Amino acid sequence: MLPTDQAGRPDEKTAYRAQLLYFAAPPGPDVDDGSTVYVPDGLLIVEHGRIVQLGDYAALSPGLEGLPVVDWRGKLIVPGFIDTHVHYPQTDIIASPAPGLLSWLDTYTFPAERRFEDPAYAADVARFFLDELLRSGTTTALVYCTVHPGSADAFFAESHARNVRMVAGKVLMDRNCPGYLQDTAESGARDSEALIQRWHGQGRQMYGLTPRFAPTSTPAQLALCGELAQRYPDVFIQSHVAENTQEVAWAMALFPGHRSYLDIYDQFGLLRPRAVYGHCIWLDEHDRRRMGEAGALAAHCPTSNLFLGSGLFDFAAAEASRMPVALASDVGGGTSLSMLQTMAAAHNVARMNGHHLSGHSLFYLATEGAARGLDLGGRIGTLAPGAEADFIVLDPQATPLLARRTARAESLEEVLFALIMLGDDRAVAAAYSAGRLLHARDGSPARGQ
Ligand code: GUN
Ligand code: ZN
Repeated sequence: MLPTDQAGRPDEKTAYRAQLLYFAAPPGPDVDDGSTVYVPDGLLIVEHGRIVQLGDYAALSPGLEGLPVVDWRGKLIVPGFIDTHVHYPQTDIIASPAPGLLSWLDTYTFPAERRFEDPAYAADVARFFLDELLRSGTTTALVYCTVHPGSADAFFAESHARNVRMVAGKVLMDRNCPGYLQDTAESGARDSEALIQRWHGQGRQMYGLTPRFAPTSTPAQLALCGELAQRYPDVFIQSHVAENTQEVAWAMALFPGHRSYLDIYDQFGLLRPRAVYGHCIWLDEHDRRRMGEAGALAAHCPTSNLFLGSGLFDFAAAEASRMPVALASDVGGGTSLSMLQTMAAAHNVARMNGHHLSGHSLFYLATEGAARGLDLGGRIGTLAPGAEADFIVLDPQATPLLARRTARAESLEEVLFALIMLGDDRAVAAAYSAGRLLHARDGSPARGQ
């Protein structure tokens, strides 16, 4: 095999040598239960943007004479992370203090979102945001835009140019927000449908219908959104539910007669596979079961929930009622775009409820688990042959402290746990999307050996 640089040659068959890790099933309490595929000295073979083969270096290399090999020995290749709920227009107001969700929306969020009426500004933020996502190792995200259709066009144009797999949508909001951010039930549906036609299935782009949350939509808007959701069953739906107790009370007052906040979305046909609900803290047992029955996904946003004081997501209850869960940054309510930091916060929140999340299960939730929850299993979130070649290179020695801790790790679980608790974008040496290098921590790709 020929040594090559980290960029590989996206149109040519290329091999990557590193430790390889992905999940064939959800890890149970015993992390060595066969759910994990781990190859300590592996080769990952990529061609035309897809993974075509992987296995042990010693076993595979003799048959691959002449194949370029990118040398990432000492590092760990895992599937690119999936962030199931994030707001790109809130990039500039991350880390803005407020006593809680509703005042944070009024004080910081809505004025910040107003600026996206300018397409040039939207394009500038979209570029910065996508760079930051890739720096953090996130190769797929479910992204809220603003109410302006141009904010979605700007995002998709940037994401399409990078050929990254993204889901995004224009926010629908026809009441209870400043006039400068309001659409109408009809204009919101018309603009959403035009965006679906323009972007859904355009390269790797996918559309998400995005009613912000029930309090900012009239029943007429949710009804039209439900019709679109039915007409376009492979389009995603994203919204917020049961994040904050005041918000829950407000939603119930605005929509009398519903069994619960979640039931509002349910009655408008907005609970189905590919529907993703942010937060899901203040749900009851019935709601959690209903999420699972409907095939909807809960996006757990731990850094946001801690930052805004929204509450502690109950992992044990989610598991007991089989509610599908994945992880999300929820920036700008969330305080980091790093899914490693998000996993760390998820671990700590679960601990507060007496529940242990292993390093293995946290990595599962940010990769294979999210892909399954989004009905994208086998395409992303995995290194299994046939999948799209979205993968990242993690460096267990990225910082002096990480290097010191991982040097004495006695198991893969300890290495993963250290990466989660001590890692962030510094631990991401490189990110590849569809086989193309889109981020290298050390700048220009260095030569392999
Ligand atoms: N609920 C409605 N809008 C938002 C938002 O932008 N962020 C969060 N965290 N919750 C919301
Ligand atoms: Zn959110």
